Amino acid sequence: MKTVSVVSTSLALGLALLTSSSLLRAETDENPMEIRKIMQGLSRDMQQVVAGTAKEDWQQVEQAASRIADHPKPPLSEKLRIVAFMGSKMADFKSHDDRTHNTAKELVSVASQQDAHKVISTFARLQSTCLDCHQNYRQTFQQHFYDQD
Ligand code: HEC
Repeated sequence: MKTVSVVSTSLALGLALLTSSSLLRAETDENPMEIRKIMQGLSRDMQQVVAGTAKEDWQQVEQAASRIADHPKPPLSEKLRIVAFMGSKMADFKSHDDRTHNTAKELVSVASQQDAHKVISTFARLQSTCLDCHQNYRQTFQQHFYDQD
């Protein structure tokens, strides 16, 4: 029992330190969070989908959509900061990410069937999943994590 309480005390202490140090550290545009780099990757892959559609290169569309579906995740330390900031909204924030993931999976599927019109309509739905999360969270997220000057 004693070991358990020592372990949980140091865990609590570790978490407190993590939280206080991250409160002191505000990101800047020169030193952005990992999530921003992940977003820039998503954006590049969306452009690849558009370019692939224009060429009717369904393999290119399929590959780019699959990178969107399985996009990299931020490191654990950043994830913890996001969870702490989102609080009770975390489930909703996560559900936006799930919608992007699921719609990108659908895009992989219709591209593999070379169904051009479905590729276009699924792509439009995919764009809406990005927009929905941005409209709900981007502004408060940036106000919280980034320097304002
Ligand atoms: C779960 C929420 C969520 C989803 C889903 C989401 N984003 Fe974002 N996105 C964000 C947040 C939060 C930011 C602000 C990040 C920052 O400023 O560090 C952002 C910022 C961006 C940016 C701006 C990057 C920059 O350089 O300032 C781009 C581009 C972007 N997202 C593209 C996308 C695309 C494309 C998709 C869909 C395929 C997508 N996002 C889906 C939350 C989301």
